[in-house]
Amino acid sequence: MNEKPPVLTFFNNKGGVGKTSLIYHLAWMFASLQKRVLAVDLDPQSNLTAAFLEEDLIEKIWNDQQAGTTIFHCLKPLTGVGDITAPILQEITNNLYLIPGDVELSGFEDLLSSQWPNSMGDNNLYRPMRILSAFWQVMQLAAQKIEADIILVDIGPNLGAINRSVLIATDYVIIPLGADLFSLQGLKNLGPTLRSWKNLWKKRLDNWDASKERVDHAGFELPKGGMQTIGYVCQQHGVRLDRPVKAYAKWADRIPEVYRTAVLDQQPKDIYKQADDPECLATIRHYRSLISMGQENRKPIFKLTSADGAIGAHANAVQDAKNDFEELARKIASKIGLTI
Ligand SMILES: Nc1ncnc2c1ncn2[C@@H]1O[C@H](COP(=O)(O)OP(=O)(O)OP(=O)(O)O)[C@@H](O)[C@H]1O
Ligand SMILES: [Mg+2]
Repeated sequence: MNEKPPVLTFFNNKGGVGKTSLIYHLAWMFASLQKRVLAVDLDPQSNLTAAFLEEDLIEKIWNDQQAGTTIFHCLKPLTGVGDITAPILQEITNNLYLIPGDVELSGFEDLLSSQWPNSMGDNNLYRPMRILSAFWQVMQLAAQKIEADIILVDIGPNLGAINRSVLIATDYVIIPLGADLFSLQGLKNLGPTLRSWKNLWKKRLDNWDASKERVDHAGFELPKGGMQTIGYVCQQHGVRLDRPVKAYAKWADRIPEVYRTAVLDQQPKDIYKQADDPECLATIRHYRSLISMGQENRKPIFKLTSADGAIGAHANAVQDAKNDFEELARKIASKIGLTI
């Protein structure tokens, strides 16, 4: 077991680019490749939770409001004078666990915003640093419990304080995107924002390291805020089928350059087509009705069988999906040094 498993966050401030669906499928794929996976739903919309769990169970979890049962109920004590509650995980299948999301999580945004400047003060730094690193602390508790090899995190499409805290807790960033104007524009915001968050967190770590208070909190660990971008994943036809294919090629081939300038902060030396770009981890096909078949059967599409309705051309698509997601999982593993 890895003592501190890598945290991977799938991020794009442009919404609806297939982030949640991608994480859901990769979580199942890593688990079937015998890796122990922790999936974490840090989007208040809780779509990842809805993909994994039956609605009745989600309703029960949300109604019971029991400590530790959702990400919000792990953090809630911090909004008063309390501390983090250890998470109670949902076991999805062998090797795969979930920290459920919570619509109430948006209530944590204000506290994160107000503690951000406080964490740069001269004293009373422990509490702000504890709050700002709370997502990381909860993930580490969960990862220890299940001896996780990898942590996959889903977040909402925005550049707010919740996502800043999640990115601080992130070792590797993968950027799902569509081939359209809005995704490209999203990249132009995303790259500089990630660099700024990384810098600002580094300042906070240095401030903490130099503080007297640190001595009183031996054993208090903080995330390094690595946020290394390891590539992008392109949604082949956008998730909407009504976009013309020509426009797809036009936007897709602008991605390599914009990714290099905005995200990698490099002057592009070579000109790549999106399909040949080494920074492109995968091009995800539009799986059409297979996606809803998977949702109805609460399964990743590559596990659908004839009993689920995957017959004929669907059965072939299931096999293609299995190959594609396995290839992507292996590529990601090799980028982050995870042996499969
Ligand atoms: N490869 C695919 N083929 C077909 N449909 C897909 C595919 N991936 C995702 N979808 C569908 O597209 C919609 C958006 O996907 P998803 O929720 O994963 O995007 P997202 O980026 O997480 O969105 P948000 O920004 O709202 O969190 C969903 O209805 C999903 O089922
Ligand atoms: Mg989502």
